[in-house]
Amino acid sequence: MQNELLTFVQDTAVSAGKLTLEKWQEPLTISEKGYHDLVTSSDIAAQAHIAKRVMERYPTHGFLGEEDDDSLPSEGELIWIIDPIDGTTNYSRHQPQFAVSIGVGKPIQATEAHLTQYELLAGAIYDPGRDELFSAAKGEGAWLNGRSIKASGQTELEHAIIGMDFSTNKRTGRSSKDVALKLANQIHGIRVLGSAAIAIAWVTAGRFDAYINYNLKPWDVAAGFLLATEAGGAYTNDFGEPIIWDRRGMDCVISTGQFHQDIIKALQA
Ligand code: IPD
Ligand code: CA
Ligand code: CA
Repeated sequence: MQNELLTFVQDTAVSAGKLTLEKWQEPLTISEKGYHDLVTSSDIAAQAHIAKRVMERYPTHGFLGEEDDDSLPSEGELIWIIDPIDGTTNYSRHQPQFAVSIGVGKPIQATEAHLTQYELLAGAIYDPGRDELFSAAKGEGAWLNGRSIKASGQTELEHAIIGMDFSTNKRTGRSSKDVALKLANQIHGIRVLGSAAIAIAWVTAGRFDAYINYNLKPWDVAAGFLLATEAGGAYTNDFGEPIIWDRRGMDCVISTGQFHQDIIKALQA
């Protein structure tokens, strides 16, 4: 039997995802909160919907949501790390390729606010356009619509299909555009979905062999990292080092475990 927290995370992600589809019938307010960084009225509504459900059920929990909301407690026994719409640019153009991503973790270290680390316990990524729910619980497994999933058994870079989004990390100066040029002739193909959460979920379901993004935030990856762990995947920074959670952006390589080191070598060559 599934654990109660996981069931609640799954139901919450699905109900928020359905809400975002319903909201497409109404006029959408779109604004730019940063350069090429959009937020719509649906992002705000979906995050508020998730937070309300969680506060009613788990009043001692806190939040790290992508959308600023001072009314939400930032500290708590467990933290809900929420991306109400991952793929907002797709969503804003009515492209049905976006997801709700929710990870729940225990805060384990907080040297500075932007560097809080988490032990992930449960996570869900719901893609409402395809009605696909990817989810995982620590030590229990990873699933797609209730069926157990595994990362691919790919062992050769030459045959790899790699998901990527073209982002640049302003702090490290590294860019996935450079990586795409470097890898293009060594692999089978590159795909760009415009939703990091869906792309990571696809790695964990064996649809991609890896996903690379040089500017991910905790809410982009919280559910995905747990899915990767539970589905036999691997995730590190582009030097092959453990990822340190950082709200200012992280260089991330998520892959099927077998050939992670080969990708890292190719990235560093
Ligand atoms: C973005 C998407 C995009 C990725 C960006 C993310 P958002 O999230 O996941 O695919 O390239 O790095 O910030 O803004 O749509 O939630
Ligand atoms: Ca996102
Ligand atoms: Ca978002």
